[in-house]
Amino acid sequence: MTILITGGTGLIGSELTRVLQANGHTVHWLSTRKSNLPQSSTLKGFYWNPAEGKIDTACFEGVTTIVHLAGASIAKRWTAAYKQELLESRVLSANLLFSALKKYPEHQVRHYISASGVAIYPDSPTETYTESSTAIDRGFLGTLVSRWEESAHQFEALGLLVAKVRTGVVYAKKGGALEPIVKPIKWGLGSDFGSGKQRQSWIHLTDIVRLYTWIIEYAHTGVFNGVAPDAVTQHEQTRCIAKVLGKPVFLPAVPRFVMRMVLGEMHELLFNDKAIQPERALQMGFAFDFPDLQSAMEDLLK
Ligand SMILES: NC(=O)c1ccc[n+]([C@@H]2O[C@H](COP(=O)([O-])OP(=O)(O)OC[C@H]3O[C@@H](n4cnc5c(N)ncnc54)[C@H](OP(=O)(O)O)[C@@H]3O)[C@@H](O)[C@H]2O)c1
Repeated sequence: MTILITGGTGLIGSELTRVLQANGHTVHWLSTRKSNLPQSSTLKGFYWNPAEGKIDTACFEGVTTIVHLAGASIAKRWTAAYKQELLESRVLSANLLFSALKKYPEHQVRHYISASGVAIYPDSPTETYTESSTAIDRGFLGTLVSRWEESAHQFEALGLLVAKVRTGVVYAKKGGALEPIVKPIKWGLGSDFGSGKQRQSWIHLTDIVRLYTWIIEYAHTGVFNGVAPDAVTQHEQTRCIAKVLGKPVFLPAVPRFVMRMVLGEMHELLFNDKAIQPERALQMGFAFDFPDLQSAMEDLLK
């Protein structure tokens, strides 16, 4: 198969590219960086600039599946201008793919897979959400993710199969959210944020990439929660990482207002309480390599 990945240079995209190539597929990238357009027999880069409506439609040649991962990072201060960029980098880019495909009738694309986020589910200290939950968070991130998913729906009008991967925080050896979480714990400065009871839904990089590969190769459709079946409280997570690293945790909890002062509105990411289950993938026979936090941390930190 030839698979077009937007944002293929990122944390998930680069590992997904490696695995797809290893499985015998050819990968095309759409990248906003002209300096990063590889040209090998199994990996070809094409330029696009969604903000300016520019796209090299040669990227669609031979492609049967599109994986839309592109999006500005949420781990930067959410100013009004940056909030707009967070939205547009995901939605305008999807719209550009849609209009470019419409103008390219000879394309062979059958399957559109969009990244999405667990931020779509409302905060709740009691609920555990599955793909059949219909509640939507009405805050900034929930609204952003729901517009991102709407931008994926439009591809159904072109007769494509559509899948959405509501991803939890991805933990990897290098890059992503784990490094800044681990650093203070390594220095013996680990602590709870607020009550520490807020539950977090995470996934090992290997498993999110295996999930995408499985969806691509079996042409699965609909919503999939891209999370391990082991949501943990922030308190449990800090202790688990500290135990794997052999470090003590003795500092008092950091109050919410302090993190709000440090991070602004983005501090929400540390205090959101979202327990999510990957019910569909489990029911359909997907097996996680790292189903629990302990095994994931032992793999990533040792
Ligand atoms: N990692 C996580 O914990 C996590 C959790 C939930 C959801 N997700 C979602 O999954 C997707 C992939 O995640 P990731 O961690 O691999 O992301 P990442 O490492 O930040 O990479 C995203 C890629 O998007 C492209 N990009 C960045 N800013 C852009 C902009 N303004 N316009 C167009 N493209 C832009 C970049 O590719 P080029 O420079 O090549 O253009 C970048 O490599 C993202 O949409 C992310 O929101 C990730």
